[in-house]
Parts: sequence; structure tokens; C-alpha cells
Amino acid sequence: MRKPLISGNWKMNLNHFEALKLVQELSYQVSRDDVELVDVSLHPPFTDIRTVQTVLESDRLPFALGAQHCYHEDAGAFTGEVSPAMLAKLNVAYVIAGHSERREIFGESDEMVNLKVKAILQHGMTPILCCGETLDEREAGQAEQKIAKQITAGLAGLASEHVGGMVVAYEPIWAIGTGRTASADDAQAMCAHARAIVAEVAGEAAAATVRIQYGGSVKPVNAAELMSQPDIDGALVGGACLEAESFGRIIQYRLAE
Ligand code: PGA
Repeated sequence: MRKPLISGNWKMNLNHFEALKLVQELSYQVSRDDVELVDVSLHPPFTDIRTVQTVLESDRLPFALGAQHCYHEDAGAFTGEVSPAMLAKLNVAYVIAGHSERREIFGESDEMVNLKVKAILQHGMTPILCCGETLDEREAGQAEQKIAKQITAGLAGLASEHVGGMVVAYEPIWAIGTGRTASADDAQAMCAHARAIVAEVAGEAAAATVRIQYGGSVKPVNAAELMSQPDIDGALVGGACLEAESFGRIIQYRLAE
């Protein structure tokens, strides 16, 4: 059985004071029982990570620490970048690689994403490899092809056992921050396709254990239906993770089933 992973991608929101407040509110909202059957990761901006680490560890909160991005080198003259080694030192467990905003706004290529995935694994953290098509690509019937290319390139050169422990997030770009969610059937079909690509690249055993998240306007009202799909093993949540109440209700999606 794959344990679902619900991840909150804060994007470029909340300073470290606001971060502390959100994590504390979330700890009131969500009980230990809620997280028995689901893993939760929080992905604050870099400036908040140390603060969030401190509160998670001192209060022993049942949420894993995540990051939104990193560079692939350990150290050096890379102005403005943060290394996987630095993140690992802060007990970061999950790092998002190749989010569509990184790809579209900052020009990250599939090759760069592959280097990041390898570096994240080398430092003992779990990559969340993102893929997803634009609206034009979907309308042109190229959605499957696009994510196949992104997943194949993102996983290139990795050992199967590493892939089996990873997370892949399918996030249609037209659904991100738009309030427009993929239907549960479409999301399931694309996540099943993502799993089939993982099987091609890394074998059936890796495909059976890799966790595939859906992302794109996940809200308390649609989380249960999405999460009930056989190939959807979690959610990557943007807007709705910035409030403890809505993120908490997504984590508690089973109560709405
Ligand atoms: P959203 O963002 O939930 O605001 O659509 C999802 C994401 O980009 O990870």
C-alpha cells in the first residue's frame, strides 16, 4: 500500500513570523490520528525553513519539512542559490523539483531538473518531480506526450530503487491557481499514465511504489474525490495550503468521503 502524501507548497508567500503562526494553527487543526494514514509535508520559502524546522522539532509536530527548489551543486559560486546539502542539514525531507513555475518563469530545463533530482537523492531527501501540460498542449492532444518526456528525462540515470521511493506530481498548468481542477477521471487517467511511464523507465516494482500526487486547485471540496482514485496517492496543494483550516480539511479528506 502506498501511503498518501499531502504537500503544501507555500510558493513565495508568508514571512517567518507568519510561517510560525500557520504551523501552530495547523497543529491545532490536525490531530495525530489524522496523520496516521497520510504523510504531510510543508514547503515554506527558504527564509522560513529554519523557523519551521525549529517549531516542528521542538513541538514534535507530525509534519515533514519540505523545500520548493534547490540547485544541484553542493557549494560554490552560484549566487542566490541554495544547495541540497544545506537543506539536508535542516532536516528537510522532501524537495520539489521542476515545478511548472520554475520551468516556465525561470527556464528550468528537463536536464536541470534531472540534475536536481539526483542531487536531492544523493543527500538522502525525497524529490517530488513535477510534470504537467499547458492548456494549448492539452487541446492539441499532446498532454500524455509532454508528461512522458518530462518524467523520462527527470528520472534518467536513476536506480530503480531510488525511483520507487520518489514522488511524482502531475500538475496540469491550466489548473494551477486558476480554481479550475482537472476532473477526477482526467486526473486519474493522467496519473495512471505517469505511473506507466515510470514502469517503462524504472520497471514495474518502482512503478508500484512510487507515489503520484495530483496538483492544481486542490481544495477541501474536491480532495476526497481526487484522493479516491486508484493512481492518485496524494496532493500538491498551493493556494489552499496557506490557511490552516483549508489545508487541515484537505489532510482530513477521509472525513468527507
Ligand atoms: P494551486 O497550486 O493549488 O494554487 O493550484 C498548486 C501548485 O502549483 O503546486
